Amino acid sequence: MATTKVLISREQIAACVSAMGERVSRDLRAEQAAAVARGEPLQPVTLVPVLTGALVFAADLIRSMDVPLSIRPVTLSSYPGASTTSQGVTSPHSLPGDLKGQRVLIVDDILDSGQTLGLLRRVFAAQGPASLRIAVLLNKRKPRGRTEEVPVEYSGFDIDDRFVVGYGLDHDGLYRNLPDVSELIL
Ligand code: IMP
Ligand code: MG
Repeated sequence: MATTKVLISREQIAACVSAMGERVSRDLRAEQAAAVARGEPLQPVTLVPVLTGALVFAADLIRSMDVPLSIRPVTLSSYPGASTTSQGVTSPHSLPGDLKGQRVLIVDDILDSGQTLGLLRRVFAAQGPASLRIAVLLNKRKPRGRTEEVPVEYSGFDIDDRFVVGYGLDHDGLYRNLPDVSELIL
């Protein structure tokens, strides 16, 4: 039977996410002030949570952000079923195609091989947004490098290259409701 071992506690997560929300808001406000000073119009902020893993992180992050924003979730998956290694990004259906001129913040649970966020960054950048940023809660250290190197503006915790669950992250659909980030020991 699988067991779990807490790696990052709910208290550590809460402190990190609220600090990140404040930082993101500060940067977005500064960006907006610069645009207004140039005589440019107010641009909306579009937050794009990558479901299902980013569900919990995004729910907490938006409550630490005090800028006007709308939410456009996308659903992507690279660990179908019980796999614990990336199988490549599947089902990139119905990605937004109208981000031109918008200020976009992609929110994901974890940066692993880089395929998911690499794909989103390329697809969204091609639409000409006013700005494009990525926020991840977790960043897996990859001693042998990522499949795709992706610039990430906001990153919560660096973790070793182990399979983790909780705080939205799953294994075979389970464990998302655990309040801490835990290592899964199969
Ligand atoms: P990437 O495309 O390999 O970077 O994988 C990113 C996606 O795979 C994340 O958004 C997660 O949903 C999932 N993922 C990667 N590592 C883990 C893990 O350790 N536990 C649970 N899901 C993971
Ligand atoms: Mg994901």
